[in-house]
Parts: sequence; C-alpha cells; structure tokens
Amino acid sequence: MAMMISTAAMMREFGVRLAGALRPGDLVILTGSLGAGKTTLVQGIAEGLGVRGPITSPTFVISRVHPSLCGGPPLVHVDAYRLGGLLEVDELDLDASLAESVTVVEWGEGLVEGLTEDRLEVEIIRDETGEERSLALTGVGPRWAVIPVELGVGAE
Ligand SMILES: Nc1ncnc2c1ncn2[C@@H]1O[C@H](COP(=O)(O)OP(=O)(O)O)[C@@H](O)[C@H]1O
Ligand SMILES: [Mg+2]
Repeated sequence: MAMMISTAAMMREFGVRLAGALRPGDLVILTGSLGAGKTTLVQGIAEGLGVRGPITSPTFVISRVHPSLCGGPPLVHVDAYRLGGLLEVDELDLDASLAESVTVVEWGEGLVEGLTEDRLEVEIIRDETGEERSLALTGVGPRWAVIPVELGVGAE
C-alpha cells in the first residue's frame, strides 16, 4: 500500500490521520533516509494525539515522553539514529512504557521489533528530483492485520 505525499504539510496531515487510528500499546516504526520526513510525520502524530510538544530531532536525547493534554495516551518519540545496538535499546526501557503509550521510533528497524508482536511499519521513500515522498505501510501482527481504511492509503 503506497501513497504520495507532496509537501511537509501533507506529511503532517497524514500524521494527524494516523494518530486517529493509534491507541495505547501501539508501536510504529518509521524508516527513510535522513531528511525523508520522519520527524515531520511524528509532529503530525503528536498534533493528532494532542500531546505536549515540541517534537524535535533530538541531538542528545534519544527517547522523549510527550504527555497528553487531553487525557489520552502519551507519545514516546524515539530517534534511534545514534543508538549503538540492542543493548542500548534495552536501556531505554521502552517495554516499561509501551502498554500505556503510543511509541513511535525513527530508525528503529532491526532494533525495536522485539518489544511487541504487533507493529506498523511506515517507510518514507524520497523522490530525489523534488519534494515528493511516497509512503508504504506494512502491518505486522494481528493488531495491524487490516490497515484502517481511514488512513486513505491507496485512495490517493
Ligand atoms: N513531502 C514532504 N514530506 C515531508 N517533509 C518534507 C516534504 N517536502 C519537504 N519536506 C521537508 O523535508 C524535511 C524533513 O525533515 P525531517 O522530518 O526532520 O526528516 P527525518 O526525520 O526523516 O530526518 C523538513 O524540513 C520538511 O519540511
Ligand atoms: Mg528525524
């Protein structure tokens, strides 16, 4: 399933829509090259969830908890770019917060899959010629056996 995202604003809009389908316990793994738009997508997810910002690309902080401003689940935003490996992932204690949070991990491929049997993988593919990006969604596990139609993936 793939969809085109032409601007950063569209990427944030998709994040808002995705947030509407997310609930506590969910794990979302974002992949895509540097500058692809992973953090931009997380900004939309944060807006949709109604959590306290700002969502930034952390320089030193690898994992940040954004509490809800509306009684919903907190957003745990992880940028695993600088993580050395599985041992360091373990030190983040993501498993302790997973059940009650929405956990979104940039550069998490190959590192955080062991946290839970279910995950939504969002791959951002960058078009070298312009601002155009395309998204490919892959659901793993029973939770994501069906990708919600509200996400509009494939409809555009
Ligand atoms: N279609 C698009 N989708 C997402 N970001 C875009 C798009 N077009 C341009 N941009 C810009 O590209 C940059 C993406 O940066 P960022 O979200 O930090 O990427 P990453 O976290 O993947 O390294 C932002 O400056 C954003 O405004
Ligand atoms: Mg980023």
